[in-house]
Amino acid sequence: MPKGRSKNPRSSRPASRLAIAIMAAGKGTRLKSRHPKVLHEIGGKPILAHVITTAREIVPPADIFVIVGHEAERVREAVRDSGVSVVVQAEQRGTGHALMTAREALAPYEQVIVLSGDAPLITANTIRNLSAFHQDQKAEMTLLSANLEKPSGYGRVVRKTARSPEVRAIVEEKAASAAQKKIQEINSGFYAFSVPALYRYIGELSASNPHREYYLTDMASVFHRAHKRVVAMKTANATEVLGSNTRAEIVDLDARLRLAKCQQLMKEGVTIFYPQTCVIDCDVQIGADTVIEPFVQLRGKTRIAGDCRIGSYSVIKDSELAANVTIHPLTVLDGARIERNAVVGPFSRMRPGSEIGESAHVGNFVETKKIKLGKGSKANHLAYLGDAEIGEGVNVGAGTITCNYDGMQKHKTVIEDGVFIGSDSTLVAPVKIGRGSYVAAASCITDDVPADALALGRARQTTKEGWAAARRAARKAAEK
Ligand code: UD1
Ligand code: CA
Repeated sequence: MPKGRSKNPRSSRPASRLAIAIMAAGKGTRLKSRHPKVLHEIGGKPILAHVITTAREIVPPADIFVIVGHEAERVREAVRDSGVSVVVQAEQRGTGHALMTAREALAPYEQVIVLSGDAPLITANTIRNLSAFHQDQKAEMTLLSANLEKPSGYGRVVRKTARSPEVRAIVEEKAASAAQKKIQEINSGFYAFSVPALYRYIGELSASNPHREYYLTDMASVFHRAHKRVVAMKTANATEVLGSNTRAEIVDLDARLRLAKCQQLMKEGVTIFYPQTCVIDCDVQIGADTVIEPFVQLRGKTRIAGDCRIGSYSVIKDSELAANVTIHPLTVLDGARIERNAVVGPFSRMRPGSEIGESAHVGNFVETKKIKLGKGSKANHLAYLGDAEIGEGVNVGAGTITCNYDGMQKHKTVIEDGVFIGSDSTLVAPVKIGRGSYVAAASCITDDVPADALALGRARQTTKEGWAAARRAARKAAEK
């Protein structure tokens, strides 16, 4: 930081009581991936993004510290828009070491909640309860625990006595004795710490374990030895603590999130047939009385109004549908906007910038890109419409192609209101078809067509009467 800077944003802000630290520096070795673990997606968003969204329900983004390390720049880029602070843990020497790295950032706070960037199902409510429990218990460290039927892989909670809220140690799976492995109460990896106590004692962590890492979990026994209070708060909802160390765990979390999303939408009045077969991203919005048929994917920032119907096997990404739109099966939409009462599909493909007007029809094997199709216009079969402005009440015949690309540049086609384009026409852009005119079938249109005209752009038909009969007769004669 440059010296003598007049405004230090941190010191000009009153020290807040509560910070949230999110550990996200690990490599995720068990995923066998080239990409950082916390950027793997569930519910259509990076795992880390879910944790940040939840943290933001508790404290403002400036009080959230994401600890990054492995592929730090990619992770930093991914969280940039959320406005959270970033701490770099250049070498990843364990979860305890991650918190050592954050010492300076966390110093102004009283309490820190530590979350794991790879455990995205945690809710704001549970975090609030953990923070309050920590306060009530006057503890230096409070860990969130849960009872799991299959606890293997998690650290186990060793309480002072079975009934005591106090914890003597957390034992990692690898270091656990056979008896300890039987403990079903696991450490979730979420904690509340008193910040001054954490940093007074964190230096006592040692890396004398098989991984040669500083384990944050060892703070339990460090505090215990120093006669400081360590307690566990057991959550009733064990699914909230599930982590994502393996591909199978990621896929499991994804399925849970998506099913919850479907259930939420159904509560809000959306019918989803066979929800187990539908893939709906977290941020998708759908209005009441819309029906989603089986095997539909709705992704990204898609927004669908009420009274729509989305046919099976359609994949809709980052698109907006107004009320009462029908999407027939096997339609692919990406960055499209569709006005009310329009009918699309089956087998339509819309690429970014497709704007389909009210009550318009786009049918099978029609591809669109960066076009406006006006109110009530129809392109019902087999067409490519790109870089085009098409007015209202236009009929685009089967097989129509806007030739928008000359090998170097894209050009625009303008089709004004009430035009009729005959089947199998090619419109070589830049070109304009004037209001109310006709283009004859199979025309190649290279020049602008004025309003109310008929344009023919094809060779004249010649008919040779009797030609076929004469040919057959000639062949018969040769065979004799
Ligand atoms: C950890 C806990 C374990 C608990 C489990 C719950 C430790 C030693 N163990 O194990 O008791 O049951 O979580 O899910 O803490 N990270 C860093 N810097 C590092 C290492 C890790 O930021 O140097 C981050 C990782 O990116 C990850 C989180 O810390 O988001 C947890 O690390 P991970 O390796 O997944 O710990 P677990 O083996 O799951
Ligand atoms: Ca983990």
